[in-house]
Amino acid sequence: MYRLFFVLCLCYGLLGHASSEETTTSVYEHCGNLQLQENIQIKLITGTWYVIEVLQHKTDEKFNEEKFDVPTCPSVFLTLAGSDTDLKLYWNEDLGDVEYLFKIRDRTAPGFWTSSGSQNGTLVQVTSYDQFAGMVYVRKAISNHMVLTFCSPNTQLYSVVLARDKTLDPRDLKSIVNHMHLQKLPITQTKRTCRNSASSARATVWMTTAFCLTYLVWYLQQYK
Ligand SMILES: *[C@@H]1O[C@H](CO)[C@@H](O)[C@H](O)[C@H]1NC(C)=O
Repeated sequence: MYRLFFVLCLCYGLLGHASSEETTTSVYEHCGNLQLQENIQIKLITGTWYVIEVLQHKTDEKFNEEKFDVPTCPSVFLTLAGSDTDLKLYWNEDLGDVEYLFKIRDRTAPGFWTSSGSQNGTLVQVTSYDQFAGMVYVRKAISNHMVLTFCSPNTQLYSVVLARDKTLDPRDLKSIVNHMHLQKLPITQTKRTCRNSASSARATVWMTTAFCLTYLVWYLQQYK
């Protein structure tokens, strides 16, 4: 009885795994099935945003679900460029800047943008820059944060979590990640930006203090 239960669980696990892998592959290959936030108003999402996290969904490279902080805090300035279907996204950080142009092809789906032309800016001049040619999906857009997924068939698949402030409530981040898991979009790498380096320095001080105290207690016990 137990063995049957175990086998059933194992099969279920394997099936679940296979189907999620399949979904990801199909999204990666042709960007299908990515849900859009409905009823967005472009005018409400323009202006300045800060990049809180960059999440990779690619499955061809093994990122091992790594998470790390990068000492940079990019800002993004989104504006309408000329008409109400042309968007300009200006990304600026310490290392340089890059400007993207997008087009809204269908006015009834303002959360779906296609890149128009190539990007320019100082970041583009570095050899490691990959020009983005593909689609952007506004997955979520509410007053204080927004999630954009960039997809270029067979080339790039990542999401950017943006917030109006330089920080975002961990509960909001958690709900974004949960939603991605529900939609079977794996997160293979999490790059955390706009984290104050002072807080990690403080953590180091606390760790050192705790270590020294533990050592002191141990030392006193040995030699009393
Ligand atoms: C990109 O090129 C356009 C047109 O030449 C220019 O107006 C804009 O300032 C450039 N952007 C950056 C970030 O260099």
